[in-house]
Amino acid sequence: MTSTPATKKRVLSGMRPTGKLHLGNYVGALQNWVRMQEQYDCFFVIVDWHALTTDYGDTSRLKENLVDVLLDWLAAGLDPEKCVMFIQSHVPAHAELHLLLSMITPLGWLERVPTYKEQKENLKEKDLNTYGFLGYPVLQSADILLYKADVVPVGEDQVAHVELTREIARRFNAFYAYAHPLVVETNHLTPDQKKVLNSNGTKITPDTDYIFPRVVFPEPQALLTPAPRLPGTDGRKMSKSYDNAVMLTDPELVVRQKLKTMVTDPARVRRTDRGNPDVCPVGDLHKIFSSPETKAKVNEGCRSAGIGCIECKSWVADAIVKILNPMQERRKKYEDKPRLAWDILEAGSARAREIADATMDEVRKAMGLYYESPKDDAK
Ligand code: TRP
Ligand code: SF4
Repeated sequence: MTSTPATKKRVLSGMRPTGKLHLGNYVGALQNWVRMQEQYDCFFVIVDWHALTTDYGDTSRLKENLVDVLLDWLAAGLDPEKCVMFIQSHVPAHAELHLLLSMITPLGWLERVPTYKEQKENLKEKDLNTYGFLGYPVLQSADILLYKADVVPVGEDQVAHVELTREIARRFNAFYAYAHPLVVETNHLTPDQKKVLNSNGTKITPDTDYIFPRVVFPEPQALLTPAPRLPGTDGRKMSKSYDNAVMLTDPELVVRQKLKTMVTDPARVRRTDRGNPDVCPVGDLHKIFSSPETKAKVNEGCRSAGIGCIECKSWVADAIVKILNPMQERRKKYEDKPRLAWDILEAGSARAREIADATMDEVRKAMGLYYESPKDDAK
């Protein structure tokens, strides 16, 4: 049984269009999104404007990267029947809300965001002394608040951004929530409906058509993806920039080849040496991808030198290939019909615009930025 849409909590998350995704992206985020689409009202956005906050100088691969991300999403099992997938720049309201939120966001809040200093240090080759880079968590806040998301699934590095979003929402509500009434017809509301609104903290002035919403923006909750750290072939965290990743699009032979070169327990030099899967990156992969039976075989065989590393690696390759195969089949379906994937994005962006525009209406009203021409010349 699926629950009715009204009772579903809303989820929003986003990814930068960085091109083809790898197993770490799948285990760290995508797999969780695929699960969430069954229970939540999910919005997933490819944040092309965010990409510009660090890669503004060269935009030549933006479109190609964006399509690759979308294809990997679809390949991994995000289903346009179950979630909304869209492009940030196709919904101009993200820019408008970013602008308005930037007015109320103290500089100190942004300078204190941990990723700000870290990234500026780590990405030395880029000049990140820009207005856009400092303000990008505000853009992320706009992404989240436009959809009034309840839950934002993110990795650890992004939790501070969701926290900032909560603070911005609170500040916005404190300034504006009761400042300007929403003018609506309330006389058609039944007493029961009014009761529900009142219990929400919404104020309805008696005998008028004014509704004062308690809050414009609910505060979103970060949901930390319960993801194990996925090692790449060199034992460091799997990452595109380390060139140690297994891509979701890697054919079976490439997967097997990459795993063959993967580092193992350094204490196990010869076949006759005993090893320890708990300190071996291949052992980590088994813990994530292999069946309990295989894991037991690895544990026993490695510690007793009963199995060789080559054999052990081939088992983990089997498990990974089994996960990637159906993804690659699905991806092919969309690669063969590029129009299909774009149609999904366009439909998603249209749906996102409806919700974002409705929120912007409320925001403009709350902020007093709602100018109607006079009804007549009397006043
Ligand atoms: N900033 C996130 C990242 O770099 C991506 C992102 C943008 C995002 N907007 C978002 C994530 C909204 C969650 C919700 O990974
Ligand atoms: Fe690692 Fe497997 Fe070799 Fe043990 S047998 S060291 S777990 S690769």
